[in-house]
Parts: sequence; C-alpha cells; structure tokens
Amino acid sequence: MNRMPDPAGPASYPPSMHPIRPELAGFPDRLKWNARYSAGPPPSFAAHPLAEQALALALPDGPVLELACGRSGSALLAAAAGRAVTAVDSSDVALGSLALEARRRRLDGLITLVHADLGSWQPTAAGFSLVLCTGYWDVTVFARATTAVRHGGLLGWEALTDAARRDRPHLPAQWCLRPAEPACLLPACFDVLSQQEPGPQPATRRRLLARCGG
Ligand SMILES: C[S@@+](CC[C@H](N)C(=O)[O-])C[C@H]1O[C@@H](n2cnc3c(N)ncnc32)[C@H](O)[C@@H]1O
Repeated sequence: MNRMPDPAGPASYPPSMHPIRPELAGFPDRLKWNARYSAGPPPSFAAHPLAEQALALALPDGPVLELACGRSGSALLAAAAGRAVTAVDSSDVALGSLALEARRRRLDGLITLVHADLGSWQPTAAGFSLVLCTGYWDVTVFARATTAVRHGGLLGWEALTDAARRDRPHLPAQWCLRPAEPACLLPACFDVLSQQEPGPQPATRRRLLARCGG
C-alpha cells in the first residue's frame, strides 16, 4: 500500500496496554493479530489513501467510524481534521499503539477506541458521516456498515479480491471479494463514486468509495 511517512517523525513505542474485554481473551482474531503486531516493525501510522481521498470530499457533519482500524493512521487523520472518531479492532495491541500515538498528537480526546469482534459489534444506525474499512472483509460486517452511514455521508472500503487466493491459497474465500463486490452489495440508496483495483492486474485488492444518498 502507498503509505506516507508520519510527518511528526518516528516515535519510540514501548509495549502499550489497552484494556482487554474478557470475552475476547481467547478470541482467535485477537490472538493472531496481537502476535503479528507485537512481532512486526514499528507502525508508521500513515493514513490509508482511501481515508485521504474520502476526507478531502464534502462530508456532512458528524463522526467517523473506522472498522478493523489496526494501527493505520486513518483514524488519526480524521481526528486531525476535527472529526470525532470511533475506531474498532479486535487487537488490543493495535488499539494500545493507536492510543499512545493519539495521545502524542494530542488527538486522544477525539478518538474512541473500541475493543470488539466485528462479527457481533453493532454501529449506531445512520450515525456516521464516514465509515471506513481497509484490509478486512466480511460480507455481514459490510452490510451492517452500510446502515451506519448518515445521509450524504461516505462509505470507503478496501479488501482483498479472489485473485489474492492464487498466491495465498490458504486464504478463506469468505475473506475475499468476488467479482463486482463490494459495489454490487450496496443498498440502492448508495451512489458509487469509484470502484478501483489499485496495483498490477490481476488485482489482489479492490477499493470502493460510495455516497449514501437515500
Ligand atoms: C490487514 S489488518 C488492516 C488494518 C488497517 N485497517 C490497515 O488498513 O492497515 C486487519 C485488521 O482487522 C482486525 N480484525 C481481524 N478480525 C477482526 C474481528 N473479527 N473483529 C475486529 N477486528 C478484526 C485485525 O486486528 C487487524 O487490525
């Protein structure tokens, strides 16, 4: 992904603690992603290009929701633009890093971090001016996310496509977009602004930006 470096420069990231919801203690997605984040390189906190694109467009007043936020800088970018942000992830390690960085940038007052399994977490209906999700796909979560966008607001989503399974055959099919998804799954009240496949073909990722008009 095309990630810009953090203009504030690198920071030192000691292991940070985010409260663990007891019901997620043994949750496989929490354990897997905590291990990845703990073993990986320090985060760049660069915003996803889709977040940059969406936040540059006209948006109604209201908060931003980022699903499966990980340690991306998209939530930080939205908060820096003055938006209240709710950022949801099952990895308390990722949320802890994000909390630390938000505090360093004095944006913590604008960001609410939610430790949750997106499989069961319910957003506020029509509550958000922008709903963003990058690097995650679940068709049920997508359907729920469409209901969280307020009139005039945007839905931005990027996920792996079926083509990603050629190189990574162990990837479950339900984690990957089928042809024409996710645009073809939108309720009729949405207008598709763009659906693109960044990178060389066959594209392993697809990126949607849509506006809720109904
Ligand atoms: C590929 S990373 C993407 C992170 C970030 N959105 C980005 O673009 O860099 C996938 C994220 O989804 C989160 N995740 C995986 N399964 C989840 C679940 N069931 N509920 C909530 N978050 C989940 C992981 O913890 C991880 O942070």
